[in-house]
Amino acid sequence: MARKIVIANLKGGVGKTNVCINLAMFLTALGKRVLLIDLSPQGDASFSLGINASPNFIGDVLLQKIRPQVAIKSTSYFGFDVMPSFSGLDSAINNLRNVKRPELRLKKAIENLEEDYDFIIIDTPPEFDLLILNALYSADELIIPIQAEYLAMRSAKQLLDLIQKRNIKIKKISALITMYGWRSKISRNISKTARDDLSINVLNSIIPRATILAQTGESKEPILKVSPNSRAARAYRQLAEEVVGK
Ligand SMILES: Nc1ncnc2c1ncn2[C@@H]1O[C@H](COP(=O)(O)OP(=O)(O)OP(=O)(O)O)[C@@H](O)[C@H]1O
Ligand SMILES: [Mg+2]
Repeated sequence: MARKIVIANLKGGVGKTNVCINLAMFLTALGKRVLLIDLSPQGDASFSLGINASPNFIGDVLLQKIRPQVAIKSTSYFGFDVMPSFSGLDSAINNLRNVKRPELRLKKAIENLEEDYDFIIIDTPPEFDLLILNALYSADELIIPIQAEYLAMRSAKQLLDLIQKRNIKIKKISALITMYGWRSKISRNISKTARDDLSINVLNSIIPRATILAQTGESKEPILKVSPNSRAARAYRQLAEEVVGK
């Protein structure tokens, strides 16, 4: 049975996609079978992994036009599978508004994939919409990346409130501090405030702000390959181990 982990925060640019790709990669390096689902209309994760637009994609899966297996691409270079997203996901989701329980489409779609993977990681957009709801209703676990600044913390709280209001059952919710600057006072305060104020677990692993992480998207070179012993790679290795429960 796959563990389904959603990476979400209602704030943009906090490192959600970066966490998804690198967590998927380092879990794969630990020998786990991983599927990354890109549930973001921008398709940043898919683009970063060098996947070109193709006719069968997650939009068609949510519309129940194709079987989910058809939309899965393998990324031999990175070693994990991806269900990519391309432009068109927005209009697909608009077509779902009038169906019954549209927020459960993803959950149903991935039920049949559970035996094929150890982890299903889901990347989400920063707006509270039907896409993020689909992700949350599919989730066993939620990791909320919190960029080391106060607005990201506020959006994390808003997301937690929405989950509570809608009574969405998620077994485990954790915060992950990202883009941490060891020399930054704000970073140190956020890390402490997150631990003190959020009523959820804060992961011990902390993702540093690192140029090499910002570059991997463009160069399509995984950090595991170009700089396996960098602080950033060590942080993501530690995160993968923490998630696995080592
Ligand atoms: N730890 C990091 N250190 C430095 N740069 C980072 C780090 N994580 C992400 N970035 C860069 O910051 C930007 C935002 O990151 P990312 O796209 O992962 O955020 P996001 O939360 O997915 O954004 P969106 O809400 O738009 O989907 C990107 O340019 C990315 O390369
Ligand atoms: Mg993103």
